[in-house]
Amino acid sequence: MKTILAIESTCDETAASVVRGGREVLSNVVATQFHLHAKFRGVVPEIASRAHIENIVPVVSEACEAAGVKLAEVDAIAVAHRPGLVGSLLVGVTAAKTLAWTLGKPLIGVDHVQAHLYSVLLEDRTSPSVAAAAPVSPVFPAAGAVLSGGHTALYSLQSWTEVSLVGSTIDDAVGEAYDKVAAVLGLPFPGGPAVAKLAETGDPKSVRFPRTLFEKDSLDLSLSGLKTAVLYHALGKKGTERKPADLGEAFKADVAAAFQAAVLDVLDEKFRRLIRQTRAKCLIVGGGVVSNSALRERLTRMPVPVYVPLRQFCTDNAAMSAGLAHVLLEQGRVSGLDLDAVTHSAIPVR
Ligand code: KG4
Ligand code: ZN
Repeated sequence: MKTILAIESTCDETAASVVRGGREVLSNVVATQFHLHAKFRGVVPEIASRAHIENIVPVVSEACEAAGVKLAEVDAIAVAHRPGLVGSLLVGVTAAKTLAWTLGKPLIGVDHVQAHLYSVLLEDRTSPSVAAAAPVSPVFPAAGAVLSGGHTALYSLQSWTEVSLVGSTIDDAVGEAYDKVAAVLGLPFPGGPAVAKLAETGDPKSVRFPRTLFEKDSLDLSLSGLKTAVLYHALGKKGTERKPADLGEAFKADVAAAFQAAVLDVLDEKFRRLIRQTRAKCLIVGGGVVSNSALRERLTRMPVPVYVPLRQFCTDNAAMSAGLAHVLLEQGRVSGLDLDAVTHSAIPVR
């Protein structure tokens, strides 16, 4: 069983993790930067890359220490080298290359979005008090979806390493829509958890926001119309008649619930189309938005078995990259020291 140390720095989290056998997460260290970006209501690339530089060495040390594994004992060094912010990616890629070269270990570059899909296999072994999750074995062909702040895309998987893109958002990512609605309602950044919490007490039928589905076979998504409808409904024409501070708590809860109901209806329909069109035997869903309890509940009603990650592996982490790297290592797919930081995903479009 191989033990892999992985590094994650694609966006605003600096993370490192040690994973054994592709599934057993021995450590999962995430240094979040959200407090640095909160006042800008979004990730500022220059601030993110500077913070990665400060965090990377302590985060890697902590990941090894927490796992009880010495650097010399790991079998390979993995890094999410695409897609992401170039300045952020460069910090992780440089750290991983340096470790691989100085330790004489194989280097494995992985695709961050593909790793989000793989995250459903991870078992948490970081502490005896955490439930590890029952081992799962999705059957292929599988349908996949990654829903996060930066990505909203649908995939067809023949295996963990044979993945093709079959649909994606043409405008906002789902997490981004939550973050923007949070701003309209005067909630803190990142908005997903705050909007989801408020939605629990609101009436999802208080207003019917639009559900953009495109033609009946389309696997593309669009959320900007919904976001604009929420803005006009809450803050008046052009979004300037009222201020978030003028809104009452009950009204905000109703808007959050009605927004979330529209998002869930769109995802439900797109997932059903995806499963049908890819003749999938199961659905695999990863990414930060999958922390959402209402979405997790909705997913239990799909026509095939659905796999979601443990909550701690939904948002950005390095464990998912260490896991996917284990599959790549077994296939002999190691990277050279010329591995590049790449801003876009290289998953082929079907
Ligand atoms: O995967 P992730 O950590 O980072 C990206 O790769 O983007 O996802 C972060 C996104 C944010 O937009 C955040 O608002 C959203 O996931 N999010 C949620 C919830 N928790 C996080 N969205 C809806 N409901 C949640 N409970
Ligand atoms: Zn991500």
